[in-house]
Amino acid sequence: MGEDEPPAAAHPEADLVESLAPRAVLDAGCGTGRVAIELTRRGIAVVGVDLDPRMLQRARRQAPGLSWRRGDLATVELARRFDVVLLAGNVVIFLAPGSEAAVVRNMARHLRPGGYLVAGFAVSLGYLPPATYEQLAADAGLLLVARYAGWERQPWTETARYIVTLHRRAAAPPPRATAPAPPGQS
Ligand SMILES: C[S@@+](CC[C@H](N)C(=O)[O-])C[C@H]1O[C@@H](n2cnc3c(N)ncnc32)[C@H](O)[C@@H]1O
Repeated sequence: MGEDEPPAAAHPEADLVESLAPRAVLDAGCGTGRVAIELTRRGIAVVGVDLDPRMLQRARRQAPGLSWRRGDLATVELARRFDVVLLAGNVVIFLAPGSEAAVVRNMARHLRPGGYLVAGFAVSLGYLPPATYEQLAADAGLLLVARYAGWERQPWTETARYIVTLHRRAAAPPPRATAPAPPGQS
């Protein structure tokens, strides 16, 4: 950065995602592209998905070259897997009530083995208790890696007003060595 350039605006969500060293990120419930655009600026390939066409229109206007898709997180099928699926900015509590399990399951399906599901949402509003969200993630086969009280990895306490969780899809088991065929059967 040159001396006359203003410092880049703080972007704790992007910082946390970048620290996981992903090559490809699904910004799930991307809204107007606030995080997707910043991650792209940092050289990370991002697909943004949102249900709301007005949000996507604004995202497209700001970053026409980025990959934006209209879709419902509960059912969308992108036919590829990501290193990180991000549910930032309270997406989890904006979901249609009752659809949370389907969304978490479908997002888990879009993770490559070893990939991370990262979610941040307000717990102070009382819409979705953290334990309920974490149970949905466990039911989707994900392992809890970390739980923070904010995007800057503030330590979690039971009185925190916001939660950021990192779950991970188990890495694929190493390929099993194939036993050599018995003599005469190859
Ligand atoms: C508060 S905004 C967060 C936007 C963005 N993630 C951010 O941090 O700036 C929540 C977004 O979730 C989207 N959303 C809610 N339910 C959805 C669903 N089932 N499928 C796709 N997007 C959804 C909304 O349209 C909205 O854009």
